Amino acid sequence: MNLQIIRDELGECRRCRLSDGRTNIVFSSGPERPAWLFVGEAPGRDEDLSGVPFVGRSGKLLNELLSELGWSRNLVGVINTVMCRPPGNRDPEPDEKEACRPFLLKKIQAIQPSVITTLGRHATNSLRGIPMSISEARRHPFEFLGAKVIPTFHPSYVLHGALHARQEMLHDFVHAISILAEKGVVP
Ligand code: URA
Repeated sequence: MNLQIIRDELGECRRCRLSDGRTNIVFSSGPERPAWLFVGEAPGRDEDLSGVPFVGRSGKLLNELLSELGWSRNLVGVINTVMCRPPGNRDPEPDEKEACRPFLLKKIQAIQPSVITTLGRHATNSLRGIPMSISEARRHPFEFLGAKVIPTFHPSYVLHGALHARQEMLHDFVHAISILAEKGVVP
């Protein structure tokens, strides 16, 4: 299975109500088989308009953190828990996440990343299946479909003023990078 086959299967998806208001399906970005995969929550306005995940302010912060650590955005994969923008950027509803989840799982199975960084509570809980605050989740990395999952804050949390979280995200990224390095993956 590869990402193109999964994209073809998705088609012009109408599996949930989020399709009503979308401009573009935001499928994924990055190389075909990145060792480091980021999972976010849901597309925002910029992503809906461009069809590319994390291109708005949150994406710029993600890119900045990666380059501070000697990595680059074009080396990592980026996907979201749901592929269509929720109206007004509200949280995705449980049935919307459920409708997208088979594709989330297929993408991870196709990519076979070594490390997954989940950005925020929604992405983390979607993979782990046990609801937890992001602060607690950060203390409990877990395994998922053969990858080590290192939960961290969503960049929007930093952008909304939680400046301490920027440092904590860097710390979590360093953890992810150390696992990648143990597997021989370097930028
Ligand atoms: N926030 C997300 O969770 N995903 C995006 O693609 C953009 C912003």
